[in-house]
Amino acid sequence: MPDKAMPDRIENVSVQLKVNGKLHSRTVEPRKLLVELLREDLDLTGTHVGCDTTYCGACTVLMNGAAVKSCTMFAVQADGAEILTVEGLEKDGELHPIQKAFGDCYGLQCGYCTPGLMLSTLQLLSRNQQPSEKEMRKAIAGNTCRCTGYQNILKAMQMAARNMKGD
Ligand code: FES
Ligand code: FES
Repeated sequence: MPDKAMPDRIENVSVQLKVNGKLHSRTVEPRKLLVELLREDLDLTGTHVGCDTTYCGACTVLMNGAAVKSCTMFAVQADGAEILTVEGLEKDGELHPIQKAFGDCYGLQCGYCTPGLMLSTLQLLSRNQQPSEKEMRKAIAGNTCRCTGYQNILKAMQMAARNMKGD
């Protein structure tokens, strides 16, 4: 016997969010993940998917300045929010100091983890201009890199901190 409390179908919902400074409105299934909205609807494929267990952090973006795993949120939970993805770091053709530092310090190999790591770095440096190594390690604890061994990532974070302070 059908459950009378269950609706015949789930209605799609409207979502409005600002991504990299641009306002977007979409109608989505309630089950759609934020990372799917970014990649499939907005073509922002710099946000990666590296697992299905909320482990790897390749999908990290900033939501209202806080690092979130966009594979672990529904798109509707970002309604009204400001999202920053890796595509929003570059300004007027100029790489962000964090992007420059990751390149200069060879803080990447395959690059799959890099967008998420850069956004976790940005969250840290926007709250703490002079983080210790321990604070840096903690800030990227949710980002897994299978290639680099992390040493050059830490060097890149240190260089980015120096450059963003203007040292
Ligand atoms: S894709 Fe791995 S934590 Fe989101
Ligand atoms: S550079 Fe390959 S996973 Fe980090």
